[in-house]
Amino acid sequence: MKINITKFTVTSIILIIVCSISCANGLYKSNIDTKESLSDKYKDLFYIGAAINEDIIMGRDSKSENIVRSEFNSITPENSLKWMYVQPAPNHFNFVAGDKYVELGVKNNMYIVGHALVWHNQLADFMKRTESSDEFINHVENHIGTVVSRYKGKIDAWDVVNEAFNEDGSLRSSVFKNQMGDNYIENIFKLVEISDPDADLIYNDYNLYKPAKLAGVLEMVKRLQSNGTKISAIGAQAHWRLDSPSLKEIEQIILNISELGVEVMFTELDITVLPNPWKLVGAEVTQNFSKFEGDPKMNPYENGLPQSIEKQLAKRYEDIFKLFIKHQDKISRVTFWGVMDKHSWLNDWPIKGRTNYPLLFDRYYKPKQAYNKLINLIGN
Ligand code: XIL
Repeated sequence: MKINITKFTVTSIILIIVCSISCANGLYKSNIDTKESLSDKYKDLFYIGAAINEDIIMGRDSKSENIVRSEFNSITPENSLKWMYVQPAPNHFNFVAGDKYVELGVKNNMYIVGHALVWHNQLADFMKRTESSDEFINHVENHIGTVVSRYKGKIDAWDVVNEAFNEDGSLRSSVFKNQMGDNYIENIFKLVEISDPDADLIYNDYNLYKPAKLAGVLEMVKRLQSNGTKISAIGAQAHWRLDSPSLKEIEQIILNISELGVEVMFTELDITVLPNPWKLVGAEVTQNFSKFEGDPKMNPYENGLPQSIEKQLAKRYEDIFKLFIKHQDKISRVTFWGVMDKHSWLNDWPIKGRTNYPLLFDRYYKPKQAYNKLINLIGN
């Protein structure tokens, strides 16, 4: 009897040890057959990134943080470095989350992205109220100088200007254009280069599969290049759907951008599975369809995603990544806009309170079929 108890105790201790090791190694992956992470698998192709929210940055979501550390080798702050949070009032800077964000990336040796210096959305109100152009430009110089210098040598790449073009390829009318003139993009890229000459400088936008919009962006890139202004990459946001854009359209983005000798980055990849009766594409964050809030027709998968759609999503991700792999020499980073489904911004945009499934990890932090597909695309 005594021996049995001892045996039992020894077995229990071994079980506890084994369990704690597997917990530390990411128990979230208990439903799949590989210990290798996504970023391990793709390390010779391109960075695999995730946008991380403030809960992850501030250490309040250790499950997501665990996934980020294990699966991704690049991070983007979902909101924490946007102007309205970093400089909400003139010369009042708040770097609490920004510093933590950068610390997380440095500690884990990641390719750290700063998002976004100049964007007409999530901008501080004082910038919208500033009347004098000189004063406005002073604020822009102060913002870029202060933020970029603070993280010089740590933030590897900046989304310098975000969403500056209309769908027809013309320059969007924004406070930046109105106050700084039609050459403002170029002037802003120059300012960022002065503050950190080694950082990769990105122009970032959505709907670049639309030829007219992409053409407008490419013209801007050529102008910067002909004036000797540094631009390293075009970020195609990639807020996509199950059925659009087509693979051909995505391939065209890659070919056209890389032709200019700049890197292609897919910066905000997620795939909505929810109805889109308005034929809405892209990611205009101010679009809001509140009249559909609570309408069950607009939120069909509240109690779970049907297998058929889960499969469709996995296949869509697989097809997209096959294309990315084909063009690995032109693509330097693919970043998902979030870590797990429950925290995706697509639960609240363009209608609040829906249940969406756009990412690689489910609502319980488990890898989905799509994750397995992407892992299995690369041989051992
Ligand atoms: C989104 C965030 O995910 C949301 O949390 C926030 O409420 C609005 O902005 N394009 C961008 C991102 O460049 O910054 C946006 O992020 C999504 C669209």
